[in-house]
Amino acid sequence: MINVDHLNKSYGKHTILSDISLTINDNQTTVILGSSGAGKSTLLRSFDLLDIPDSGTLTIASESIEFRDGYTNEQLQKIRAQTSIVFQSWNLFPHLTVLGNVIKGPISVLKKSQSEANRDARALLKQVGLENYENYYPVQLSGGQQQRVAIARALAMEPKFILLDEPTSALDPQSEANVLNVLSKLSRQGQALVIVTHNMAFARAIADEIVFLEAGKVSFSGSPSAFFTSKNERIERFLNKQTALPLLED
Ligand SMILES: Nc1ncnc2c1ncn2[C@@H]1O[C@H](COP(=O)(O)OP(=O)(O)OP(=O)(O)O)[C@@H](O)[C@H]1O
Ligand SMILES: [Mg+2]
Repeated sequence: MINVDHLNKSYGKHTILSDISLTINDNQTTVILGSSGAGKSTLLRSFDLLDIPDSGTLTIASESIEFRDGYTNEQLQKIRAQTSIVFQSWNLFPHLTVLGNVIKGPISVLKKSQSEANRDARALLKQVGLENYENYYPVQLSGGQQQRVAIARALAMEPKFILLDEPTSALDPQSEANVLNVLSKLSRQGQALVIVTHNMAFARAIADEIVFLEAGKVSFSGSPSAFFTSKNERIERFLNKQTALPLLED
Protein backbone atom coordinates (compact mmCIF):
# COMPACT_ATOMS: atom_id res chain seq x y z
CA MET A 1 0.00 0.00 0.00
CA ILE A 2 1.11 3.54 -0.74
CA ASN A 3 -0.33 5.99 1.73
CA VAL A 4 0.14 9.73 1.70
CA ASP A 5 -1.15 11.89 4.46
CA HIS A 6 -1.44 15.69 4.31
CA LEU A 7 1.23 15.96 1.61
CA ASN A 8 2.28 19.46 0.53
CA LYS A 9 4.71 20.68 -2.07
CA SER A 10 5.47 24.22 -3.24
CA TYR A 11 7.94 25.80 -5.58
CA GLY A 12 8.51 29.29 -4.23
CA LYS A 13 5.08 30.83 -3.77
CA HIS A 14 3.47 28.36 -6.13
CA THR A 15 1.60 25.52 -4.36
CA ILE A 16 1.83 22.36 -6.45
CA LEU A 17 0.40 19.72 -4.10
CA SER A 18 -1.99 20.86 -1.43
CA ASP A 19 -2.89 18.68 1.55
CA ILE A 20 -3.09 15.41 -0.39
CA SER A 21 -4.25 12.36 1.54
CA LEU A 22 -4.61 9.18 -0.45
CA THR A 23 -4.26 5.42 -0.28
CA ILE A 24 -3.17 3.33 -3.24
CA ASN A 25 -3.83 -0.35 -2.78
CA ASP A 26 -1.61 -3.29 -3.61
CA ASN A 27 -2.40 -5.41 -6.65
CA GLN A 28 -4.57 -2.69 -8.18
CA THR A 29 -4.33 -0.29 -11.06
CA THR A 30 -4.72 3.33 -10.05
CA VAL A 31 -5.03 5.98 -12.75
CA ILE A 32 -4.24 9.61 -11.97
CA LEU A 33 -6.13 12.09 -14.15
CA GLY A 34 -6.22 15.87 -14.30
CA SER A 35 -5.57 18.84 -16.52
CA SER A 36 -2.09 19.88 -17.50
CA GLY A 37 -0.34 21.47 -14.52
CA ALA A 38 -2.66 19.85 -11.95
CA GLY A 39 0.31 18.18 -10.23
CA LYS A 40 0.01 14.61 -11.54
CA SER A 41 3.71 14.15 -12.36
CA THR A 42 4.77 15.80 -9.12
CA LEU A 43 2.55 13.46 -7.09
CA LEU A 44 3.77 10.38 -8.97
CA ARG A 45 7.39 11.46 -8.64
CA SER A 46 6.96 12.02 -4.92
CA PHE A 47 6.06 8.30 -4.50
CA ASP A 48 9.54 7.51 -5.85
CA LEU A 49 11.12 10.47 -4.00
CA LEU A 50 12.29 12.03 -7.24
CA ASP A 51 10.38 15.08 -6.01
CA ILE A 52 10.53 15.59 -2.27
CA PRO A 53 7.39 16.99 -0.61
CA ASP A 54 7.80 19.79 1.95
CA SER A 55 5.54 18.24 4.56
CA GLY A 56 3.22 15.33 5.16
CA THR A 57 3.85 11.61 5.42
CA LEU A 58 4.59 8.99 2.78
CA THR A 59 4.24 5.35 3.75
CA ILE A 60 5.01 2.49 1.40
CA ALA A 61 4.84 -1.07 2.68
CA SER A 62 6.03 -0.64 6.28
CA GLU A 63 8.37 2.30 5.69
CA SER A 64 7.26 5.83 6.56
CA ILE A 65 8.79 9.24 5.98
CA GLU A 66 7.53 12.38 7.69
CA PHE A 67 9.00 15.02 5.41
CA ARG A 68 9.18 17.80 7.98
CA ASP A 69 11.46 15.60 10.11
CA GLY A 70 13.80 14.72 7.24
CA TYR A 71 14.91 11.15 6.53
CA THR A 72 17.96 8.98 6.34
CA ASN A 73 19.50 7.57 3.21
CA GLU A 74 18.48 4.11 4.40
CA GLN A 75 14.81 5.16 4.63
CA LEU A 76 15.02 6.67 1.16
CA GLN A 77 16.49 3.44 -0.28
CA LYS A 78 13.85 1.32 1.44
CA ILE A 79 11.01 3.44 0.04
CA ARG A 80 12.57 3.55 -3.42
CA ALA A 81 12.95 -0.23 -3.52
CA GLN A 82 9.15 -0.52 -3.50
CA THR A 83 8.60 1.36 -6.74
CA SER A 84 9.99 1.66 -10.28
CA ILE A 85 9.13 4.57 -12.50
CA VAL A 86 8.63 4.51 -16.28
CA PHE A 87 8.82 7.89 -17.99
CA GLN A 88 7.17 9.32 -21.07
CA SER A 89 10.44 9.02 -22.97
CA TRP A 90 11.92 5.69 -22.20
CA ASN A 91 15.47 6.64 -21.17
CA LEU A 92 17.18 3.34 -21.99
CA PHE A 93 20.95 3.10 -21.76
CA PRO A 94 21.95 3.59 -25.42
CA HIS A 95 25.23 1.65 -25.13
CA LEU A 96 23.56 -1.48 -23.73
CA THR A 97 21.52 -4.08 -25.59
CA VAL A 98 17.91 -4.76 -24.68
CA LEU A 99 19.02 -7.62 -22.44
CA GLY A 100 21.81 -5.46 -21.00
CA ASN A 101 19.32 -2.76 -20.09
CA VAL A 102 17.03 -5.20 -18.29
CA ILE A 103 19.73 -7.07 -16.31
CA LYS A 104 21.72 -4.00 -15.19
CA GLY A 105 19.61 -3.17 -12.09
CA PRO A 106 19.04 -6.76 -10.96
CA ILE A 107 22.81 -7.44 -11.05
CA SER A 108 24.02 -4.19 -9.50
CA VAL A 109 21.21 -3.52 -7.03
CA LEU A 110 19.44 -6.83 -6.38
CA LYS A 111 22.80 -8.68 -6.51
CA LYS A 112 21.50 -11.38 -8.82
CA SER A 113 24.00 -13.58 -10.63
CA GLN A 114 24.42 -13.00 -14.36
CA SER A 115 22.67 -16.26 -15.22
CA GLU A 116 19.73 -15.65 -12.90
CA ALA A 117 19.37 -12.08 -14.17
CA ASN A 118 19.51 -13.29 -17.79
CA ARG A 119 16.88 -15.94 -17.16
CA ASP A 120 14.51 -13.55 -15.41
CA ALA A 121 15.07 -10.83 -18.02
CA ARG A 122 14.27 -13.22 -20.87
CA ALA A 123 11.00 -14.17 -19.17
CA LEU A 124 10.10 -10.48 -18.83
CA LEU A 125 11.03 -9.72 -22.44
CA LYS A 126 8.70 -12.52 -23.48
CA GLN A 127 5.97 -10.98 -21.36
CA VAL A 128 6.30 -7.66 -23.19
CA GLY A 129 6.50 -9.38 -26.60
CA LEU A 130 10.19 -8.71 -27.24
CA GLU A 131 11.73 -12.15 -26.81
CA ASN A 132 13.41 -11.89 -30.22
CA TYR A 133 15.05 -8.54 -29.57
CA GLU A 134 17.43 -9.16 -26.69
CA ASN A 135 20.56 -8.34 -28.71
CA TYR A 136 19.20 -5.17 -30.29
CA TYR A 137 20.37 -1.74 -29.21
CA PRO A 138 17.74 0.90 -28.29
CA VAL A 139 18.43 2.91 -31.45
CA GLN A 140 17.38 -0.12 -33.53
CA LEU A 141 13.92 -0.24 -31.91
CA SER A 142 10.70 1.71 -32.41
CA GLY A 143 9.50 4.03 -29.64
CA GLY A 144 6.88 1.51 -28.56
CA GLN A 145 9.42 -1.30 -28.43
CA GLN A 146 11.75 0.89 -26.37
CA GLN A 147 8.91 1.69 -24.00
CA ARG A 148 8.18 -2.02 -23.59
CA VAL A 149 11.86 -2.59 -22.76
CA ALA A 150 11.55 0.20 -20.18
CA ILE A 151 8.54 -1.62 -18.67
CA ALA A 152 10.49 -4.91 -18.59
CA ARG A 153 13.39 -3.07 -16.96
CA ALA A 154 11.07 -1.63 -14.31
CA LEU A 155 9.55 -5.07 -13.63
CA ALA A 156 13.02 -6.61 -13.35
CA MET A 157 13.58 -4.63 -10.17
CA GLU A 158 10.67 -6.56 -8.64
CA PRO A 159 8.96 -3.48 -7.20
CA LYS A 160 5.58 -3.58 -5.52
CA PHE A 161 4.42 -0.64 -7.63
CA ILE A 162 5.24 0.38 -11.19
CA LEU A 163 4.70 4.12 -11.67
CA LEU A 164 4.09 5.28 -15.24
CA ASP A 165 3.96 8.92 -16.30
CA GLU A 166 2.14 9.27 -19.62
CA PRO A 167 3.80 6.11 -20.91
CA THR A 168 2.34 6.32 -24.42
CA SER A 169 2.06 10.02 -25.13
CA ALA A 170 5.19 10.06 -27.31
CA LEU A 171 4.09 7.07 -29.40
CA ASP A 172 2.30 6.51 -32.69
CA PRO A 173 -1.12 4.80 -32.41
CA GLN A 174 0.09 1.26 -33.23
CA SER A 175 2.99 1.44 -30.76
CA GLU A 176 0.64 2.93 -28.20
CA ALA A 177 -1.76 0.02 -28.63
CA ASN A 178 1.08 -2.47 -28.12
CA VAL A 179 2.21 -0.77 -24.91
CA LEU A 180 -1.36 -0.48 -23.60
CA ASN A 181 -1.87 -4.20 -24.24
CA VAL A 182 1.21 -5.01 -22.18
CA LEU A 183 -0.03 -2.79 -19.34
CA SER A 184 -3.51 -4.30 -19.45
CA LYS A 185 -2.00 -7.78 -19.19
CA LEU A 186 0.14 -6.76 -16.20
CA SER A 187 -2.87 -5.17 -14.58
CA ARG A 188 -4.93 -8.34 -14.98
CA GLN A 189 -2.06 -10.32 -13.45
CA GLY A 190 -2.35 -8.16 -10.34
CA GLN A 191 0.85 -6.14 -10.80
CA ALA A 192 0.16 -2.87 -9.00
CA LEU A 193 0.34 0.02 -11.46
CA VAL A 194 -0.04 3.75 -10.90
CA ILE A 195 -0.54 5.42 -14.26
CA VAL A 196 -0.78 9.07 -15.26
CA THR A 197 -2.49 9.28 -18.64
CA HIS A 198 -4.53 11.58 -20.82
CA ASN A 199 -6.04 8.57 -22.65
CA MET A 200 -9.56 8.39 -21.20
CA ALA A 201 -10.60 5.18 -22.99
CA PHE A 202 -7.56 3.42 -21.60
CA ALA A 203 -8.09 4.90 -18.13
CA ARG A 204 -11.66 3.69 -18.10
CA ALA A 205 -10.72 0.22 -19.31
CA ILE A 206 -7.76 -0.44 -17.02
CA ALA A 207 -8.40 1.45 -13.77
CA ASP A 208 -9.58 -0.14 -10.56
CA GLU A 209 -9.40 3.31 -9.00
CA ILE A 210 -9.36 6.82 -10.44
CA VAL A 211 -7.71 9.75 -8.69
CA PHE A 212 -8.63 13.14 -10.15
CA LEU A 213 -6.36 16.07 -9.34
CA GLU A 214 -7.32 19.70 -9.70
CA ALA A 215 -4.85 22.45 -8.89
CA GLY A 216 -2.83 20.21 -6.59
CA LYS A 217 -5.79 18.79 -4.69
CA VAL A 218 -7.51 15.40 -4.94
CA SER A 219 -11.03 16.31 -5.96
CA PHE A 220 -12.22 12.75 -6.68
CA SER A 221 -11.05 9.28 -5.84
CA GLY A 222 -13.19 6.26 -6.51
CA SER A 223 -14.29 3.77 -9.13
CA PRO A 224 -13.97 4.46 -12.86
CA SER A 225 -17.72 3.95 -13.32
CA ALA A 226 -18.47 6.61 -10.70
CA PHE A 227 -15.95 8.98 -12.27
CA PHE A 228 -16.99 8.59 -15.89
CA THR A 229 -20.68 8.97 -15.10
CA SER A 230 -20.16 11.77 -12.58
CA LYS A 231 -22.56 14.70 -12.77
CA ASN A 232 -19.98 16.93 -11.08
CA GLU A 233 -19.73 19.95 -13.32
CA ARG A 234 -15.93 20.20 -13.20
CA ILE A 235 -15.43 16.49 -13.91
CA GLU A 236 -17.86 16.74 -16.84
CA ARG A 237 -16.00 19.75 -18.17
CA PHE A 238 -12.66 17.93 -17.85
CA LEU A 239 -14.00 14.86 -19.68
CA ASN A 240 -15.53 16.95 -22.45
CA LYS A 241 -12.25 18.74 -22.95
CA GLN A 242 -10.26 15.50 -23.10
CA THR A 243 -12.41 14.13 -25.89
CA ALA A 244 -12.81 17.37 -27.84
CA LEU A 245 -11.00 17.65 -31.15
CA PRO A 246 -7.73 19.54 -30.60
CA LEU A 247 -8.79 22.16 -33.16
CA LEU A 248 -11.92 22.93 -31.19
CA GLU A 249 -9.96 23.56 -28.01
CA ASP A 250 -9.15 27.11 -27.24
N1 LIG B 1 10.88 21.78 -10.76
C1 LIG B 1 9.85 22.66 -10.79
N2 LIG B 1 10.04 23.96 -10.46
C2 LIG B 1 9.02 24.84 -10.47
N3 LIG B 1 7.74 24.51 -10.78
C3 LIG B 1 7.51 23.23 -11.12
C4 LIG B 1 8.54 22.24 -11.14
N4 LIG B 1 7.98 21.06 -11.52
C5 LIG B 1 6.67 21.31 -11.73
N5 LIG B 1 6.39 22.60 -11.49
C6 LIG B 1 5.05 23.22 -11.60
O1 LIG B 1 4.16 22.43 -10.88
C7 LIG B 1 2.88 22.37 -11.52
C8 LIG B 1 2.46 20.94 -11.68
O2 LIG B 1 3.35 20.29 -12.55
P1 LIG B 1 3.20 18.77 -12.94
O3 LIG B 1 4.32 18.48 -13.87
O4 LIG B 1 3.10 17.95 -11.72
O5 LIG B 1 1.79 18.79 -13.70
P2 LIG B 1 1.06 17.65 -14.51
O6 LIG B 1 -0.29 17.49 -13.93
O7 LIG B 1 1.93 16.46 -14.60
O8 LIG B 1 0.90 18.31 -15.96
P3 LIG B 1 1.00 17.65 -17.44
O9 LIG B 1 -0.32 16.98 -17.70
O10 LIG B 1 1.20 18.84 -18.32
O11 LIG B 1 2.17 16.72 -17.45
C9 LIG B 1 3.03 23.14 -12.81
O12 LIG B 1 2.50 24.43 -12.63
C10 LIG B 1 4.53 23.21 -13.02
O13 LIG B 1 4.89 24.38 -13.70
MG1 LIG C 1 2.97 15.54 -16.12
